[in-house]
Amino acid sequence: MIELSHVSKQFGDETAVDDISLRVPKGKFCALVGTSGCGKSTTLRMINRLIEHSEGDIILDGQAIDVYDPVKLRRRIGYVIQHTGLFPHWTVARNIGLVPQLLKWSAADVQSRVAELMQLLGLPVDEFAHKYPHQLSGGQAQRVGVARALAADPDILLMDEPFGALDPITREKLQDELAKLQARLHKTVLFVTHDMDEALKLADHLVVMREGRIVQQGSPLALLQNPADPFVESLLGGLERGLKQAALTRVKDHMTSMGPTLPAPSRIPGTFSLRQALSMMLRDHSDRLTVVDQHDVPVGELSLRRIIKEAQLDNGNPRE
Ligand SMILES: Nc1ncnc2c1ncn2[C@@H]1O[C@H](COP(=O)(O)OP(=O)(O)O)[C@@H](O)[C@H]1O
Ligand SMILES: [Mg+2]
Repeated sequence: MIELSHVSKQFGDETAVDDISLRVPKGKFCALVGTSGCGKSTTLRMINRLIEHSEGDIILDGQAIDVYDPVKLRRRIGYVIQHTGLFPHWTVARNIGLVPQLLKWSAADVQSRVAELMQLLGLPVDEFAHKYPHQLSGGQAQRVGVARALAADPDILLMDEPFGALDPITREKLQDELAKLQARLHKTVLFVTHDMDEALKLADHLVVMREGRIVQQGSPLALLQNPADPFVESLLGGLERGLKQAALTRVKDHMTSMGPTLPAPSRIPGTFSLRQALSMMLRDHSDRLTVVDQHDVPVGELSLRRIIKEAQLDNGNPRE
C-alpha cells in the first residue's frame, strides 16, 4: 500500500533522510520512532508531497506518487499533526467537513458525514458542532483533527506526533481510542512519534530511525527480543525491556492446563498481559495464578517459572 524504496532527501548540503526503504501493507499500523531531528516528519511529508523527495521511489497503491496531482493526492490521504492545524475562525463542524466540501459533496452529505465522525470520536454534536477551536481542550482539538483527517474516508492516514502536546492521561486515553478505531477501520497508517511506549502500544510494525537512516525495523516483539544495537536497546528502555515484552504477551498464550494441586487463590483473566500477571504475583506474594475466562471460570494456570522460561525461549527464538 505504501512503499518507500531507497528514498533520500537533501536540504541543500544536509541529508535529512538517507536511503530508507520500508513497506506498510494495506490495513497495517506502522510507527516511525526516533529522537528529534532524525527525519521522521520529512519522511511523512514526502509521502503526501508537501516535500518532494530527492532520490528513490515512493509508491502508493502500486503507483509512483510522482504521477498523482499533489492536491488530489493530499485529499486522498488523511494527515494529522501535533498542533491540529484547525482553522481558528471556523466551527468544529466546518473544520471537519473541509475535505468533503472541497470534493464537492452535497451539503446534506457533508453534514451527515460530520455528524457521523463526531459521534465516532466522542464529540457530541449538540455540544461541539458550533464551537471554535479556542473553546476546545487539547484532547478535544486532537479529536477534531483526527475526525477531519478521516472525513473523506481516506485509505491512508499519516500522523505526525498527534498526541505529543497532550498531558499523559489524555494522551493515553486517545491512544486507546485510536487503537479501537483502527481495529474497526483498518486504515493504512504511518504514525510518527518519539515516544517508544506509544509506538509499542499501537504499532504492528516498528521502524527506528537515527540521523536520517533506518537502524532497525520489525514487529514490536521482534525488536524487544533482539534490538540491533545499543541505541535501539536504549530507546526500548534498557532494563525495562523485559517488562515491555511481558506487556505485549498475553496470559492465555502461556498458561498451562490446571494441575492436580489446589488452584491458586489469585485469579487473572487470560486476556491480561504477562506484565500484569507478574504485578499480581508480586502483590499477592504468590508464584502461581489461576487463569479465568470472561465468565470468571478457571481455564488454566500460570506459574512464575513458566513466565521466566518463556522469556528465555523468546530471547533465543524470535517468533516474528
Ligand atoms: N524545510 C527544511 N529545510 C531545511 N532543513 C530542513 C527542513 N525540514 C527539515 N529539515 C532538517 O531535516 C532534518 C530532519 O528534520 P525532521 O524530519 O523534521 O525531523 P524529526 O521529525 O524526526 O524531528 C533536521 O536536521 C531538520 O533541521
Ligand atoms: Mg517531526
